[in-house]
Amino acid sequence: MTGADGLKWREAMVSRVIPVEVFDLVVFGASGDLARRKILPGLYRRYLAGQIPQGSRIIGAARSAMTLEEFRAMVAESIAEFVTPEKRDPKAMAEFMAILSYVGIDAKGEAGWPELAALMREGVVRAFYFSVAPTLFGDIAERLHAHGIADAQSRIVVEKPFGRDLATARALNATLASHFEERQIYRIDHYLGKETVQNLMAVRFANILFEPLWNSQFIDHVQITVAETVGVEGRGSYYDKSGAMRDMVQNHLMQLLCLIAMEPPYHFDPDAVRDEKLKVIRALQPVAPTDIVRGQYAAMHGAPGYVEDAENPDSRTESYIALRVQVANWRWKNTPFYLRTGKKLRARTSEIAITFKEPPHSIFDDAPGWRENVLVIRLQPNEGMNLKVMIKEPGPGGMRLVQVPLDMSFAEALGTEGADIPDAYERLIMDVIRGNQTLFMRGDEVEAAWAWTDPIIQGWEARGDRPSRYDPGTSGPEDALMLMHRDGRRWREIAE
Ligand SMILES: NC(=O)c1ccc[n+]([C@@H]2O[C@H](COP(=O)([O-])OP(=O)(O)OC[C@H]3O[C@@H](n4cnc5c(N)ncnc54)[C@H](OP(=O)(O)O)[C@@H]3O)[C@@H](O)[C@H]2O)c1
Repeated sequence: MTGADGLKWREAMVSRVIPVEVFDLVVFGASGDLARRKILPGLYRRYLAGQIPQGSRIIGAARSAMTLEEFRAMVAESIAEFVTPEKRDPKAMAEFMAILSYVGIDAKGEAGWPELAALMREGVVRAFYFSVAPTLFGDIAERLHAHGIADAQSRIVVEKPFGRDLATARALNATLASHFEERQIYRIDHYLGKETVQNLMAVRFANILFEPLWNSQFIDHVQITVAETVGVEGRGSYYDKSGAMRDMVQNHLMQLLCLIAMEPPYHFDPDAVRDEKLKVIRALQPVAPTDIVRGQYAAMHGAPGYVEDAENPDSRTESYIALRVQVANWRWKNTPFYLRTGKKLRARTSEIAITFKEPPHSIFDDAPGWRENVLVIRLQPNEGMNLKVMIKEPGPGGMRLVQVPLDMSFAEALGTEGADIPDAYERLIMDVIRGNQTLFMRGDEVEAAWAWTDPIIQGWEARGDRPSRYDPGTSGPEDALMLMHRDGRRWREIAE
């Protein structure tokens, strides 16, 4: 590629910032952890990027009584903590502070609601981010209507967890549905806001290369791994009521699985995409107990184990889970999906690996180390893609084959713009303002996911299964290796 071509290519690839409509965004729970770590710093970064138009406003709302100056000081602290120094531009920060307002509000009482109502304007997009416990969703939704704050065009954003089983998810959906239409409800799964996850759709549906091979005739198996190095310290008793299946598999891993397994939607349109994802969830087979491995990290070198972190010596909640999952349809018959996620593992990494079958016949019979093609989609760290292909090892000495990676790191491929990929929350909040629900879960999708998850959890509860122990810093329980070995396969190494 010549220098000029390279430049043109890169110019075409970099993200373009398209300003959204003028909006009023009310963040309920503005004093909480999620708002301080993700939502408010993310909004500042979008402001700096020029995506938030003049006249837009961000209104913090929480129970705490705070003056506007105190709220601005809190936001400035969040930016100082969670935005990289080169992005802390004093002028942009001052302008950003000027678009902030704050209302002390009680979701369960009447305090603050008239003040919020008085702040609302006609003719701008109204969005309400419910960054509060789900038990408050109904109260807030009801009061938004009672005080005439929400209108038919308003949007609400709700956080996970969306229920803890099918019954609670249904109840939550019913609560929201009694106040808002489905087109107004944005259920966030921040995994869907990750650049690579969206790229998965681009790779599949914007190239002719992969789709003809994207089925059980050519794909041997799929591995989805979300590994964390941290434990549950600090929120152990909360986590103990949930576990890896509810906390990660039912939502994040399920969404990744859907994007790999779904049929091409007729258009890149919210309902077209979500219809196809729903079909995948409905096609998931029940999982046999022998296809499930659960684990709890053990105490080591003086560091507490899971049960100590959870403050529950009898806990049977898993901090690790691996499952062998089958999508029962024409495309995926006999191609298993192996899912695993856990805490205190060897490395912090999230990836999807699609392992293709070996060619039907090798003409290089004498070549040792015959291996398969693998497409690896890295979500973190270093978002990118890597396709392992076989080539001839250079030099004399006959036809020796070697597997090499065709590696594409977004940061490298896209230069500085690629290194500056917006955080998933930033992208998703801007999608809310644009009114684009493609990357948000629909109510029926969430319910279908729970309908598949519930019997699995009920099964191990009824059997009284105990998770096995695994050492921190490893790739999880030994039994999980067997899940693969007995199928003649092996997990990819958990490494950064
Ligand atoms: N933190 C995360 O990383 C994370 C990740 C994914 C999902 N989530 C979800 O996001 C939501 C918020 O989580 P969080 O970690 O930010 O929680 P948090 O730190 O406990 O914050 C809760 C927020 O809710 C406000 N609040 C509580 N009761 C209220 C009431 N009666 N009226 C008005 N406001 C009230 C609190 O205000 P005061 O402090 O002023 O009382 C605070 O701003 C939860 O649903 C959580 O499951 C969080």
